[in-house]
Amino acid sequence: MLSFQAVCKEYPDGTVAVDHLTLDVGRGELVALIGPSGCGKSTTLRMVNRLVEPTGGTILVDGRDNRAYHPVELRRRLGYVIQQIGLMPHLTIAENIAFVLRLNGVPPKQRRRRAQELMHLVGLDPDQYLDRYPRELSGGQQQRIGVLRALAHDPDIILMDEPFGALDPLIREQLQDELKRLQKAVHKTILFVTHDMDEALRIADRIVLMRDGRIVQAAEPEQMLRQPADAFVAEFIGRHRMLRQASEVAVREVMFDNPVTAEASIGLAQALERMRQRRVNSLMVLDADGRFLGVARLDEVTRLLEQGKQAHVGELARLAQACVHPDDPALSAMRQMLWYRVDAVPVVDEGGRLAGLVTRSALAGVLDDALRVTSAEPLAKAQ
Ligand SMILES: Nc1ncnc2c1ncn2[C@@H]1O[C@H](COP(=O)(O)OP(=O)(O)O)[C@@H](O)[C@H]1O
Ligand SMILES: [Mg+2]
Repeated sequence: MLSFQAVCKEYPDGTVAVDHLTLDVGRGELVALIGPSGCGKSTTLRMVNRLVEPTGGTILVDGRDNRAYHPVELRRRLGYVIQQIGLMPHLTIAENIAFVLRLNGVPPKQRRRRAQELMHLVGLDPDQYLDRYPRELSGGQQQRIGVLRALAHDPDIILMDEPFGALDPLIREQLQDELKRLQKAVHKTILFVTHDMDEALRIADRIVLMRDGRIVQAAEPEQMLRQPADAFVAEFIGRHRMLRQASEVAVREVMFDNPVTAEASIGLAQALERMRQRRVNSLMVLDADGRFLGVARLDEVTRLLEQGKQAHVGELARLAQACVHPDDPALSAMRQMLWYRVDAVPVVDEGGRLAGLVTRSALAGVLDDALRVTSAEPLAKAQ
């Protein structure tokens, strides 16, 4: 469908942006082009629609050299979405979506119908939005319209250059899912540029990792995760692996199982003394039967003492807000730390007993190991 044959691009200033790139994208396939900034992703994309002319090699669109097409015919076959969607502010949403259709001489009624049809594809109500102007839509909605605009003239191939880069993570995930659904529904061939490994893993049928204008590895997502071609690929996916690791390892494997405890009945001064002795900044408070009541924190105990309060630790150990089960993934402990802004999360079993404590440094240790494993693997294989 789309074929790069030893394609090169050297800019006039001598920068070699793309260096003998050879790649086939099959019909209906979604290929994610990924790599660090400046590795030549955008240049590769822009050579397809001839915004940039290659200095070597050939690009075939549907089996035919893209230089042999009449520019209008080439544009008809390609859709192009970029991050700065650049909807035209003085045109309504309907007019924006149908922009290329108008250029192609499609009559107004048909354009309107097409715009309505497309809005349904991305779950936006046409009656509500088609006659609005871009500024009246949220960023995520505008980005959807940008995608629709590229689909409107029904191109075979869609080129997308970090289309969701500027959006917040939740909306980005929604749009990624939507794109995947669209691709399945309308069988478009999509070349998608991103620098976000999670995005690539989420949507791509195949991931092509580039570095310095060359392809380092082209593989299905799962295969790339399992068998990174070299240390560079491993490093690149390391960050992602870290998170995966945190979701695969159970809390019980990272917790330490004898945190410093205190009975609910001891006084504040006594609690403070115990924290000093044991060099900790919190105590796990247990009731008389040894069941977990909550956490007494150093700063709280100190503050109450300074105010001259008489109290038992049991009174300030409200049931800890942050709390995980031994079988939970380590990732949930991490989330709770971030959410509740604490450095440690108590681990409590189904019987209400304290099983242990996950600390920030224990978690960091796990993630560190994941990184080391990631970068060590390919080296080990090479030996
Ligand atoms: N018009 C240009 N003139 C000179 N160098 C360019 C031009 N466009 C891009 N480059 C250079 O080509 C390389 C690849 O750029 P680009 O394709 O934009 O990378 P990416 O999209 O992967 O970040 C970079 O070193 C960049 O500075
Ligand atoms: Mg780019």
